[in-house]
Amino acid sequence: MLELINIDVELEGDNGWDKVLNDINLSLERNKIYVMTGPNGGGKSSIAKTIMGIHKPSRGKILIDGIDITDMSISERARRGIGYAFQTPARFKGLKVKDLLNLAAGEREIDHCEILYNVGLCAQDYLDREINSTFSGGELKRIEIASLLARQIKVALFDEPEAGIDLWSFQRLTETFINLHQKSDTTLVIISHQERILRLADVVIMVENGRISEITNKDKILEEISQLDTGCEHRDNCGKGVMEYADCIR
Ligand SMILES: Nc1ncnc2c1ncn2[C@@H]1O[C@H](COP(=O)(O)OP(=O)(O)OP(=O)(O)O)[C@@H](O)[C@H]1O
Ligand SMILES: [Mg+2]
Repeated sequence: MLELINIDVELEGDNGWDKVLNDINLSLERNKIYVMTGPNGGGKSSIAKTIMGIHKPSRGKILIDGIDITDMSISERARRGIGYAFQTPARFKGLKVKDLLNLAAGEREIDHCEILYNVGLCAQDYLDREINSTFSGGELKRIEIASLLARQIKVALFDEPEAGIDLWSFQRLTETFINLHQKSDTTLVIISHQERILRLADVVIMVENGRISEITNKDKILEEISQLDTGCEHRDNCGKGVMEYADCIR
């Protein structure tokens, strides 16, 4: 349904151009949950931004239902059903939460209360509130996720939805992903470092050093996590206070 073929992406950093993605090949099917994970700086957000059209590849092609969208704009891709909830959301200044959800929904009838409930927000407190600098990071993040849920969408890209979200809302969000998966045809791509999100995955995509290092199933990754030795082999000797221990593992 969504295919990335031999994608390279180069971005201009402080010291010239960096190749941040290297020969990315992915084939995503309808109604599956993909969890993308891997070390910080590995290229996960860059892959999501390339699918959304925020980054333009220097090589390769992106197809949706067989149609080449490589040169299409962000808004054209949005019309074709691709949506991206940013790792760090922007502030849509001046808009009320209700207006943002209506804009996202377009012609579609939506239940505002249900959507906000699904991201752990109380509609009464938020629907008529204007989005401005008084919103906390976690509130903004949840409103951005809500605006993606309001859309009829083919491919939903959630970039670290857990970041800044309290435990209670996170539990609700996890259930929301399961519901979305069960009730729609949407392909979910969730970028996450959370074990609870990994457990939702049909397929786990490991991204490291700008490459896909592994495409696997959750059982293998969860088993690897359970065997991780997060400590340090000199732990018994470094003994004394937390600071020394932190120095030791560094
Ligand atoms: N606009 C940019 N210009 C230049 N380099 C960039 C830009 N955005 C990201 N990079 C670099 O691309 C690499 C991949 O970044 P990316 O944000 O995709 O990683 P990530 O896997 O999402 O990491 P994290 O888990 O920390 O969110 C990093 O080395 C980063 O410094
Ligand atoms: Mg990222």
